[in-house]
Amino acid sequence: MACNQKEVSCACQGSNIKTVALLQLNSNKVKALGTRLVLFEKKMEAADFRKCGKELVDLIANYMENIRQRPVLPDVQPGYMRELLPKEAPEKPERWEDVLKDIERVVMPGMTHWNSPHFHAYFPTGNSYPAMCADMLISALTCIGFTWKSSPACTEMEMVMMDWLGKALQLPEEFLFESNGPGGGVIQGTASEATLVALLAARSRTLVLTKDAKLENLVAYTSDQSHSSVERAALLGAVEIRLLPADEQLSLRGDTLEKAIQEDIAKGKIPFIVVATLGTTNTCAFDNLLELGRICKREKIWLHVDAAYAGSSFICPEFRPFLDGIEYADSFNFNPHKWLLVNFDCSAMWVKNRMEITEAFSVNPTYLKHDKEGQIPDYRHWQIPLGRRFRSLKLWFVLRMYGIEGLRKHIRAQVRLAKEFEKYVESDDRFEIVTPVHLGLVCFRRKGPNSANERLMKRINDRRKIHMTPTIVRDSFILRFAVCSRYTTLEDIDFAWREIQLVSSGMVP
Ligand SMILES: Cc1ncc(COP(=O)(O)O)c(C=O)c1O
Repeated sequence: MACNQKEVSCACQGSNIKTVALLQLNSNKVKALGTRLVLFEKKMEAADFRKCGKELVDLIANYMENIRQRPVLPDVQPGYMRELLPKEAPEKPERWEDVLKDIERVVMPGMTHWNSPHFHAYFPTGNSYPAMCADMLISALTCIGFTWKSSPACTEMEMVMMDWLGKALQLPEEFLFESNGPGGGVIQGTASEATLVALLAARSRTLVLTKDAKLENLVAYTSDQSHSSVERAALLGAVEIRLLPADEQLSLRGDTLEKAIQEDIAKGKIPFIVVATLGTTNTCAFDNLLELGRICKREKIWLHVDAAYAGSSFICPEFRPFLDGIEYADSFNFNPHKWLLVNFDCSAMWVKNRMEITEAFSVNPTYLKHDKEGQIPDYRHWQIPLGRRFRSLKLWFVLRMYGIEGLRKHIRAQVRLAKEFEKYVESDDRFEIVTPVHLGLVCFRRKGPNSANERLMKRINDRRKIHMTPTIVRDSFILRFAVCSRYTTLEDIDFAWREIQLVSSGMVP
């Protein structure tokens, strides 16, 4: 190209073909010598992101607005996606339009729609627009806030949010940073991680403080109703765990714990942690925290409280009594990502003495050290992984845009819907309510053998109009109906009950 010639190019948005024009520049004249089309490698840059991002926001809003039109369960078989995708990653960049189109073609057919108003399985998954907006910002900032220095805002926002949330639950002051004591809160990814962290910290405390303590003589306790993640934490921590029988109300009681502790001490074992549950996964039952707490205090046993689902409800004064006895706990955890409209993942954990956690997990390579150490928490010592997302932004957005009052309204509305469902079940004498209805979960069954209930459950889910999951308690097969989606209304409860009756009466295939 001669020195008085210049190439200029332009591409249409969304296209990876650009037009290149060769221009001749003479003193005050510009002459086009020719043009050619060039295929170029298109990356998404800021201008494209503005456009594509808005399109994606539209897609999300449309998805949410029309979610009730989609069957709650997919109709696919294992391996369905392999046939829809190429065997190799593309060598050349593809067009955004094509990626967007494939969401409906490839992803949606295999989706279980957790936010559908007809989803009544497991427990809810938190979902709200403020949390989605925060997630977008978290992705943009992508700070990996393992130490204060690695991104001060990430650590400091988390400390304030954990205090805000702790106060909304009326946690004892000792759990808050604001008390200037050794306590404080941290956001873990899941309740399972929180339980594991608590168990490992308790293990470490006992091994350090107790003469003759060895891994093989430590013993942990939980109820036979607690979540499988508790048993798993003990497996990962290489310690024995006893699943103690809950009473008729499916609550772990003090006398049962007392008996087990005395048996184990007599055998030379060292009881070191009790994991109590507030709101069990099976039936939303509550362990007796006051009874268990007094024993743990006397025996100097770590008490960890898992309120993964029910914890969100404690912001309502009428449900706060479930948390009575929390003053005895060493650590407490619940999942805002279940019921507090915060998108996964956000599991809030508080400890009374953070040193017991940070000392259990402290390893200090030079590349992670910084000059402000000791003045403010470095969250890398509070958790299993090193890296961590700026999750507290989700809490900040949700707490500000709903207010605690708005969140209480959400919880109360869902509890009311569960009560309405309970009334439907009670009005039909072919069915029975199996356990007291707490919060947003109704456990019921058709009177008669387990086999009939198993068939009923399968047929309901096969029809894909609503989705529920079962459980087995004391050999009885139970249907669990959880109010999950923030879109669920009284009409949806009515719809679900009619569907259950229809299937149960055998009037549909
Ligand atoms: C009582 C209880 N604990 C723990 C968990 C596990 O939660 P995560 O998925 O956050 O580990 C659940 C899940 O539903 C639960 O109900």
